[in-house]
Amino acid sequence: MARNYQSRKRILVTGGAGFLGSHLIDRLLERGDEVVCVDNLFTGAKRNIEHLHGNPRFEFMRHDVCFPLYVEVDEIYNLACPASPIHYQHDPVQTTKTSVIGAINMLGLAKRLKCKIFQASTSEVYGDPHVHPQTEDYWGNVNPIGVRSCYDEGKRCAETLFFDYHRQLGLEVKVARIFNTYGPRMHPADGRVVSNFIMQALKDEPITLYGDGAQTRSFCYRDDLVEGFLRLMDTGPDFAGPVNIGNPNEFTIRELAELVIELTGSRSTLDYRPLPQDDPMQRQPNITVARDKLGWEPKVQLREGLERTIDYFRDFVN
Ligand SMILES: NC(=O)c1ccc[n+]([C@@H]2O[C@H](COP(=O)([O-])OP(=O)(O)OC[C@H]3O[C@@H](n4cnc5c(N)ncnc54)[C@H](O)[C@@H]3O)[C@@H](O)[C@H]2O)c1
Repeated sequence: MARNYQSRKRILVTGGAGFLGSHLIDRLLERGDEVVCVDNLFTGAKRNIEHLHGNPRFEFMRHDVCFPLYVEVDEIYNLACPASPIHYQHDPVQTTKTSVIGAINMLGLAKRLKCKIFQASTSEVYGDPHVHPQTEDYWGNVNPIGVRSCYDEGKRCAETLFFDYHRQLGLEVKVARIFNTYGPRMHPADGRVVSNFIMQALKDEPITLYGDGAQTRSFCYRDDLVEGFLRLMDTGPDFAGPVNIGNPNEFTIRELAELVIELTGSRSTLDYRPLPQDDPMQRQPNITVARDKLGWEPKVQLREGLERTIDYFRDFVN
């Protein structure tokens, strides 16, 4: 719903110069809110928000969420955290700090301001799941000492903090468990499967598949995901989540590679490599809670979303 001068909110988005954060900000500004974007630009980029400079309702602060932040806002979306394995494994200690200390700092801010706070959690809290598709009441199967643990356990601890602030201090929290999301403004070199495949296909390079390519993933287009964020934030104080937000349509990695080759018209071939440590075999959200509580489900199908994403990535190869 469009805001007027009186209903306008001032909203903090951490990680706002990243892939998802910058889209969330576009939506918040479009509906008339004011946005304070906080980002240390570790994986985010100024180009993701450069179209917003000059907008009087937009403000950028270069800041690391591992340090306390003093701003006055009505709502907080906490997205700050590198999301791709290449980036979060680059400095794993910093990744855990960002998830855990960043959560403590943002929850402390929400407590002082008595405002709602949203956490961008992840399907990685389910680890390599024994339950398929994953429902929110599944506790997960996570290796606590592996190379992905800085991210998985960091996000799990952040969820613990969010729910303890909720139970102990009555803070209104909203926890979304995000499944693989793709779209324009993904980092072209982040090693995630969609960006990897598109970049390799556009350059006619071999497409790297780990394992036999039979592992499955579900891919959610970024516009659908951000709609889910906004709906979750708008729920009443008694709903904290966690809620899975993702697209339940499952594809094998090989199917994804073949579709990308078709849509780019590429001459790429498939190059099979060994499976990395702790790479989950299956990942698919059960979105019953999102359907019931948010009236949400994804609308953009993979082919359409990939076409839009491929158009964006063409600029990086030409
Ligand atoms: N994209 C997905 O498929 C996906 C899936 C699950 C969860 N998530 C979560 O959603 C959020 C956004 O992910 P994304 O895909 O947009 O990733 P991204 O890397 O594009 O965005 C993360 C942003 O956080 C910033 N950041 C990192 N550490 C920071 C720090 N210490 N202080 C301030 N800013 C910091 C980065 O510079 C970047 O702009 C992350 O929390 C991620 O864990 C994303």
